[in-house]
Amino acid sequence: MLPGPTNVPNRVMRAMLAPIINHRSDDFVELYTDVVSKTQQVFETQNDIVALSASGTGAVEAGVVNIVKKDDKVIIPVNGEFSNRLSQLIEGQGANVIRLETPPGENATFDQVKEAFDNNNDVKAFYVVHNETSTGTMVNYLDKVSDLTSRNDSMYIVDSVSLLGGASLPVDKWNIDVCMTGSQKAIAAPPGISPISISPKAKKYMIENPPATMYFNLARYFKYYEESKHTPFTPALPLLYAYREALSILLEEGLENVFNRHKICSDALYAGLSALGLTPFAKEEDRSITIVALNYLDGLEDKTFRNTLAQKFRVLVAGGFGNLKGKVFRVGCMGEVQRYHVMRTISSIASTLDMMGYDVDAKAGLKIAEEKLKDL
Ligand SMILES: Cc1ncc(COP(=O)(O)O)c(C=O)c1O
Repeated sequence: MLPGPTNVPNRVMRAMLAPIINHRSDDFVELYTDVVSKTQQVFETQNDIVALSASGTGAVEAGVVNIVKKDDKVIIPVNGEFSNRLSQLIEGQGANVIRLETPPGENATFDQVKEAFDNNNDVKAFYVVHNETSTGTMVNYLDKVSDLTSRNDSMYIVDSVSLLGGASLPVDKWNIDVCMTGSQKAIAAPPGISPISISPKAKKYMIENPPATMYFNLARYFKYYEESKHTPFTPALPLLYAYREALSILLEEGLENVFNRHKICSDALYAGLSALGLTPFAKEEDRSITIVALNYLDGLEDKTFRNTLAQKFRVLVAGGFGNLKGKVFRVGCMGEVQRYHVMRTISSIASTLDMMGYDVDAKAGLKIAEEKLKDL
């Protein structure tokens, strides 16, 4: 139940045993074109796809160095570890960054974003972390942002590392120019592949203004794909096999069903854990589907709680980041997550709290979760 990496189905693990083929062969073309086509379906886009052999940060870095140049004006909401990292990466390019800071657990509102655009008519790009993994918040107005970015043709760029695959993110419908994710979260593959979608507008810009890097220069990837359907550098073949298998599983289940399952499990976790007396960290309207962050009860010690849960019940959850360390814990609700994971997590947390001397109503937590799960 970590916020990534998540459980990987055996079918996906077994896919990694396929032969290490020549990455300049027809076999590779078959593999990589299939990866591209399945990624397009999950991103709900016709845009170009690059599947980098890298962790999510690789995709995020590529999404920055290929777009942002010195003195460019960039708007970015910042409310946690990953949005702060993204902002630092953009600042590192020498950009003029307008940080829309809000307290952890709260998102900048659409009106705050609009105001920033109203006050700046020379914005080169809007960057946003879709789902702030460190605090369990999720931005709910990504569908409206292109009304703002289209005003002066700025780029619209989304880090959806901890959400894509767990909820609909229709890249084309929402006019997102660059969208990045990682294989190890809602897609439920092992870590190490980070897919990116790139709109025709962003692609043209990247080709005309390549960055001073080699591995993350996306123009190289476009050139190789157009000429031969290859990647410029040796890809992590076993991870590509696994990633393709994980995408096949999502598509076989049907994206609508996958998204519903995530939402139902998430609602059940919030309701069940709240009934145990735990309170979600994020503001209600900003709560993430895939990361359920909860405040620790008074006196509940992070390490003891998580170690007991792991050792006695084999349930792994994550602690907090930075100054939220010891104050919150985070339950991942993504990938394979099903009724079984939800119920076992709630009952194990209830038992752990009971063992640590807290008076919890386990039955109430399980009952409300069961009700929420009835449509699964
Ligand atoms: C929102 C977000 N962005 C970027 C990353 C970085 O991904 P990775 O650790 O795979 O490099 C993470 C990882 O948790 C994340 O949650």
